[in-house]
Amino acid sequence: MSVPRLIDFSKIGKPELGYLTVAQNSGLPFRIERVYWTYFTPDEVLRGHHAHHDLEQVIFAVSGQIDFELEGVDGTKYNFALTRPNIGLYIPRHYWRTIRFSHNAVLMCLASHEYEEADYIREYADFKHLQSIEKPRILD
Ligand code: TYD
Repeated sequence: MSVPRLIDFSKIGKPELGYLTVAQNSGLPFRIERVYWTYFTPDEVLRGHHAHHDLEQVIFAVSGQIDFELEGVDGTKYNFALTRPNIGLYIPRHYWRTIRFSHNAVLMCLASHEYEEADYIREYADFKHLQSIEKPRILD
């Protein structure tokens, strides 16, 4: 089973000139089908509150700080603070996420599929139900 992890993308450049970071399919756990970004989220707002059936993502804080709490189907929790534009957070399918932004944060997401509302699990109870489906069954 895949677990969330940070991916360190290389920085091209130097302090006097600034930096460039590149993400391309050859360096990712999936092929990119969609890119989206979010911005101007007030810092008292929590976003997310969903999981995905199939979608895999790599998420960057290209500016500001973005804090993630991820919960796996087995109840394991992972916390990540994204503060560097060259660090991507890989989120496999089936992770419930809660996201907090600094006001200047810009989140950029590389996603494995185009947008499809049916791929969202928006009710926490449905996510917990997934957990019971995924538990290994002991066979007689
Ligand atoms: P959502 O993924 O729920 O945002 P967040 O988890 O950051 O709160 O998306 C917010 C709204 O935008 C929702 O109505 C669906 C829509 N949306 C699209 O139309 N296309 C997309 O690619 C995404 C990511 C969202």
